Amino acid sequence: MDKFVVRGGNPLLGTIKVSGAKNSALPCMAAAILTEDELVLENIPQVRDIETERKLLSAMGAEVDLGYGRAQHRTRIKCAILSDPVAKYEIVKTMRASSLVLGPLIARTGIARVAMPGGCAIGGRPIDLHIKGLEAMGATVTQDHGYLEARSPNNGSSRLKGAHIVFDKITVTGTEDLLMAAVLAEGETVFENCAREPEVTDLATLLTAMGAKIKGAGTSTIHVHGVAQLHGARHRINPDRIEAGTFLLAGAITGGDLSVEGCNPAHLGALLAKLESCGVKIEVGKDSIRVRSDGALKAANISTEEYPGFPTDMQAQFMALATQAEGTTTVTENIFENRFMHVQELNRMGANITVEGRTATVRGRSKLESAAVMCSDLRASASLVLAALVADGETILDRVYHLDRGYEHFEEKLRNVGAQIRRMGNVFTKK
Ligand code: EPZ
Repeated sequence: MDKFVVRGGNPLLGTIKVSGAKNSALPCMAAAILTEDELVLENIPQVRDIETERKLLSAMGAEVDLGYGRAQHRTRIKCAILSDPVAKYEIVKTMRASSLVLGPLIARTGIARVAMPGGCAIGGRPIDLHIKGLEAMGATVTQDHGYLEARSPNNGSSRLKGAHIVFDKITVTGTEDLLMAAVLAEGETVFENCAREPEVTDLATLLTAMGAKIKGAGTSTIHVHGVAQLHGARHRINPDRIEAGTFLLAGAITGGDLSVEGCNPAHLGALLAKLESCGVKIEVGKDSIRVRSDGALKAANISTEEYPGFPTDMQAQFMALATQAEGTTTVTENIFENRFMHVQELNRMGANITVEGRTATVRGRSKLESAAVMCSDLRASASLVLAALVADGETILDRVYHLDRGYEHFEEKLRNVGAQIRRMGNVFTKK
């Protein structure tokens, strides 16, 4: 299993280029199921979850060509024939976002068999709201042997029907999954209490380019006028706002001077405001953000909320920064029930964090020491790397495959701006 070896103490100086957003690429790749034409997606990140989605689509009968290599990051997907419209457990268990094929499959073929995703380190991750929405559109959903089977009306032979759906909770992939079901449904669908994340808007832009009729993406209410068929399109995926935010925090925690390029500052409002409260200097360009810090950081409390609030995907990384701030920081996690797995590992490095329910209290100015630590999930891994960048000595991070799921060339990008970080064990290889 791959490990990272990180020696702390270097301020990060220079420029880092952001890759495409994994959480945009995953729904956009699933959208290829909605048409028999070819979809060309640009700016696809070379990360493990994308590889998993390629396997998932190929197993269904899709032709998937992942054009990697520096110049490309292009993916061509053609679902002319879906010979086996099933999302198999052995793939779904490694990536719960596989549930994103549920909506497009039933919209395209009238039937979808998807392994129940099960939970993950950060929570139970149910998909009851996805199912409730499909049933509102006339689908029959049954469960057997760990699989969900969803059929459109008349045993899969008729189209889904437009409906008025109010989400009980704001769900990002729930909004995306049902949006993809609605674009081919008969009639009008109105969604209320939708997720407003940029990834939802990115998907809606692609679907519109494919001929879908959508209004209101990015707001809480989305209107869809169903069409009979969609055609192929070419689309460039958004830059990854969470990767950008992670690098901004790396620049801040190391007392560096770092420019994050190829990002969209408008997607990072909540984080930038928080960083300024911490006393970090921020300079915002059209598609870049420069962060400067002399290492003197002030405590600033965070409470994770749906977009445009402070993102839950930045909570673990911000907690690492909080261990170095002057004063005490409270971190409240409102989205997931178990997203403090990084706390015990940070404490093993000398942090002083206590947890009470959904709130962690971080006492600042902790002198972090190198240690052997374990990655537990994608963003917890990033948090531990940030801590290791300021810890005294050489930290060994185990199970970095968690990090490879969502960060492209993470250690190279950091090394290019002065971090002392290297990978041990087999390099992540594309199969
Ligand atoms: C997406 O997950 C992201 N993943 C997550 O990023 C992100 O943390 C999350 O949104 C919140 O922003 C992708 O986009 C692939 P939710 P998702 O449905 O859609 C509950 C990362 O680090 N819920 O918005 O699965 C759920 O349990 C990953 O890149 C239901 O109760 O999250 C949670 O408490 C981690 N029933 C809350 O809603 C449902 O049917 C928000 O979950 C669906 C969700």
